[in-house]
Amino acid sequence: MQSALNPNGVTITGTGFYVPTSLLTNLDLAASLDTSDEWISQRTGIRQRYIAEASAETSDLAVMAATDALHRAQLSPEDVDLIVVATSTPDYAFPSTAMLVKQKLGSRAPAFDLSAACSGFVYALSISSDLMKSGAYHNVLVIGADKFSKIMDWQNRNTAVLFGDGAGAVVLQSRPGASSPFSLLGSEERGADTLISPVTGQITMHGREVFKFGVRILESMLTKVMGELELSLEDIALIIPHQANVRIIEHAADKMNIPMDKFFMNIETYGNTSAASIPIALAEAVEQQRIQAGDIVVLAGFGAGLAWGVQVIQLG
Ligand SMILES: CC(C)(COP(=O)(O)OP(=O)(O)OC[C@H]1O[C@@H](n2cnc3c(N)ncnc32)[C@H](O)[C@@H]1OP(=O)(O)O)[C@@H](O)C(=O)NCCC(=O)NCCS
Repeated sequence: MQSALNPNGVTITGTGFYVPTSLLTNLDLAASLDTSDEWISQRTGIRQRYIAEASAETSDLAVMAATDALHRAQLSPEDVDLIVVATSTPDYAFPSTAMLVKQKLGSRAPAFDLSAACSGFVYALSISSDLMKSGAYHNVLVIGADKFSKIMDWQNRNTAVLFGDGAGAVVLQSRPGASSPFSLLGSEERGADTLISPVTGQITMHGREVFKFGVRILESMLTKVMGELELSLEDIALIIPHQANVRIIEHAADKMNIPMDKFFMNIETYGNTSAASIPIALAEAVEQQRIQAGDIVVLAGFGAGLAWGVQVIQLG
């Protein structure tokens, strides 16, 4: 099976993540909203999330995660030749958050943002590894970072209980002979109005529609990618899904007859951190030694758009 991955030499050599220090528990939310710890944890699996200081921007979270990933890859910012930041909560309309990250890191690399909401990191990893295949880039920082607290209506219990702030990053490096990530990206014909954050304004969401989409698309994308690469469940060390709602994952797992321990979950601790959710989970899975070098890992993103993306990676 492993030969099904294109051996043209792009691999992840470092992972890192950062969450702010300010903890917001379900009980904290219940003090000002008509909700309860029981409702939130039973319906979503979330018990707490971390919220960034007002003065900390998305680029600050991204820099912390990137520094962690670079350290683990034993690279310095001068070694980086491209920076891609997936975010839907940029610091400014321009310059891009990636340009601010570049400046804060002290790098001269080209840098750009990618907007695909909760699918953003998988989209960014796919595009970055394809750009690397051209031979133009060798050390690429791919970051997923979001500060949803700044677009949240804290009086709206439909959305306020779901999201947290954070950032995750990977270092992608050229490695002749290594298995490059394999990606499938897609979107729905309809549903762009299901989950919206205006350019200036706050999130609105049709929760049930998003929930149903999540279950259906997770099952469909996992089936598709496993079929395409002829992967069996035994070949896969871990599936890292976007952390939107534990019940979405449970429903899809149940339909596919996949045990829940095949899925890495940390939504309980961080909530839904949007573009950051998959790279945070990946970095934690590495840190906790749930996955090791050589393991096949599946990343599955889905969200506003309605967009989705699935990726098979082999850890370097
Ligand atoms: C938002 C979500 C948790 C709501 O769960 P649900 O089981 O679908 O709940 P419903 O919307 O049907 O609401 C059920 C009841 O709970 C109430 N409710 C909604 N939010 C609540 C909250 N935070 N606390 C307490 N009660 C709440 C509703 O008003 C409704 O009450 P009613 O029966 O008296 O009308 C769920 O739909 C979901 O997770 N959707 C996906 C959201 C998501 O992942 N978005 C990001 C995608 S990347």
